[in-house]
Formats: sequence, C-alpha cells, structure tokens
Amino acid sequence: MQPKFANLKESDVDIRQRQQYVTELFDNLAPNYDRFNRWVSFFRDEAWRRKTIELLDDQKTGRVLDLAAGTGDLARSAVQAGARQVHVFDIAFNMLIQAKAKFSAENHQVSKINFELGSAARLPFKDNSFDGIVSGFAMRNVFHFLDDVLSEMHRVLKPGGRFAILELSQPKNSILRAGFRVHMKTVMPLIGKLTAGKSTPFQYLCETTMTFLSPEEFKQRLENAGFPAANWQKFLFGGIAIHFGKKQP
Ligand SMILES: C[S@@+](CC[C@H](N)C(=O)[O-])C[C@H]1O[C@@H](n2cnc3c(N)ncnc32)[C@H](O)[C@@H]1O
Repeated sequence: MQPKFANLKESDVDIRQRQQYVTELFDNLAPNYDRFNRWVSFFRDEAWRRKTIELLDDQKTGRVLDLAAGTGDLARSAVQAGARQVHVFDIAFNMLIQAKAKFSAENHQVSKINFELGSAARLPFKDNSFDGIVSGFAMRNVFHFLDDVLSEMHRVLKPGGRFAILELSQPKNSILRAGFRVHMKTVMPLIGKLTAGKSTPFQYLCETTMTFLSPEEFKQRLENAGFPAANWQKFLFGGIAIHFGKKQP
C-alpha cells in the first residue's frame, strides 16, 4: 500500500501512478466487491442506491449514466426505476465483467444496457447526451482530477438533466465522528477480511474517507463546475451523503 495515494490531502502525487494503483485495486477486489459492500454497509447500501436514483426525479426514466459504476448496482436500481437506457461506465475491466455477469444472471433487458471502459476524466460521450447521471462511492477515487470529472458530467448532461452522487462522508458531531472513525478502523477491516480476504483495501477506504471534502466543500466544487443549486442529504448519522442537483435548462 502506498499511503500517499490514500491521503487526499497529499498534493505531491503522480496522478497516473495513483490511477494505476486505484484501477488495480478495484480490478483485484471485483469478485468480492458486492459482498464486501453489503456487509460493510450493514445491508443499507441498496436503500441508499434507490434513494440516489429517486433524486434524479423524472429524469430517472430517461437515458442514465452510472459513472465509475463498478459492478453496476446504481445502474441496476436505475433499470428497476424504469430508465430507458443505462450506461455502465468504469475504468476497471474486472468490475465491468462482474457487472455484465450480474445483469445477465438477473435477466435484465441487456439490450438497453451498455458497458463501457474508460476514465471519468474524459468521457467518450457527446455534449448534452444524458437525462441523468449517478455515481456511487467514486468521487474519492478520482479526487486528484475531480474538477475535470465534474465538468465532464456537466458537459454530457442535457440542460435540465439531473445528477445524484452517493458518497461516504463524516458525521459533523465530534462524538459521532470519533465513533465513525473507530468503526472504520476496527469493524470494517474485520468485515473486509471475512468477506473479501486479506486483500481488502480498508486502509485506503478509511483514509480516503477521512481526508475527503466536507459536503459544503463538495457543493462548492459542484458550483465551480456549473451546477449552481446543488444540495445534499445525509444518512447514517452523517456517514453517508447524497449530493444532487441539475444542469440549468
Ligand atoms: C468504490 S467503487 C464504486 C463502484 C460503484 N459505483 C458502487 O456504487 O458501488 C469505485 C469505482 O470507481 C472506479 N474508478 C476509479 N477511477 C476511475 C476513473 N478515472 N474513471 C472511471 N472509473 C473509475 C473504480 O474502478 C471503481 O469501480
């Protein structure tokens, strides 16, 4: 583990090397990712995903991009909510393999689901092409070029289109925050070992969460990218935040 790749406050980072580290990390975690996620969230993540899709409002039934989709759980919620077309986009090949296998096993209408490999920093889509964009637990992983990612989201979203971003956060209350840190440093590694073996990147997960932006700071970055009225909702005592908003019509 290269500690400086996990500390988002560290600015002396080779972005290419960091991306390679992150991609390999998720390629390796892919077969166990869903199980790890379920247990580590105490089986709450699916409810947060449904909420994320709901925050797209009417746009959830249009053409939806799941950005840094991993195994495609948000995309799956979008399909279940009636999305007309869904794009499952990620940089880690093995995550997409898992996503594809899951969609096939569950007999979803595969014809309306597209699986695409690439970087969120440079999206291979035309301007104004999506009604909705969702992303789950991904912003910490693209932190070193976050402004590029947010402005790409703005570019490919249609005017009036909506986005919703699900991300780990930290409780504001200092006692709850201390409890949250203890949970991340002790309970999560244990769950990680049981569900995904020794290779679980809990140190990376924990440190990126501790050093990520506050909701207020993230809102500012969204505004800088052209989303003026972004907002957020918190869950799990503030340990989870969903940021949402729309591109001006
Ligand atoms: C914590 S996982 C989240 C997966 C999924 N969105 C979810 O909600 O469970 C982070 C994902 O971000 C992807 N990722 C990292 N860097 C990326 C980039 N530059 N472009 C696209 N995806 C990226 C990883 O491959 C990984 O699948």
